[in-house]
Amino acid sequence: MAIVSMTVNGKPVTADIDPRTLLVQFLREHLRLTGTHVGCDTSQCGACVVHMNGAAVKACTVLALQADGGDVVTIEGLANGAELHPMQAAFREHHGLQCGYCTPGMIMTAVDMANRLGPDLSEETIRSELEGNICRCTGYHNIVRAVESGARAMAGQPMREAAE
Ligand code: FES
Ligand code: FES
Repeated sequence: MAIVSMTVNGKPVTADIDPRTLLVQFLREHLRLTGTHVGCDTSQCGACVVHMNGAAVKACTVLALQADGGDVVTIEGLANGAELHPMQAAFREHHGLQCGYCTPGMIMTAVDMANRLGPDLSEETIRSELEGNICRCTGYHNIVRAVESGARAMAGQPMREAAE
């Protein structure tokens, strides 16, 4: 067993874990933060994306011990109380989901994308950046619109109209 400590969604957490515990297991099974999903066992789907030290990572590819001393944000940490994060609001506005299974990972990837690349994201850039996130439902069109709009909203710019 090994002691791991990190900040998750602004709160310090410490636990005694099996050193083989993946970050996604730690979040879901130890902390009960089940918004971070597991959609594959091949590091392909992106349903498990969280932010670690300010960057998007697939939590199924990171050991919890690798996050020791770090700062982790999950989908549960994005909203400001009852107020959705602008990217969450954009996904709702643009119907960027159907079953919702991929959505937490999509949104965490999208927020990271906007943080790195700014508010003016082209469709080509968004589609390229979402390469590591798989959606089996939507056909991606509305997700792309949502990311485009959410990135603008994160910068304080008005969202695009949903009906296009
Ligand atoms: S569960 Fe992590 S990439 Fe699929
Ligand atoms: S909304 Fe169902 S997998 Fe994306």
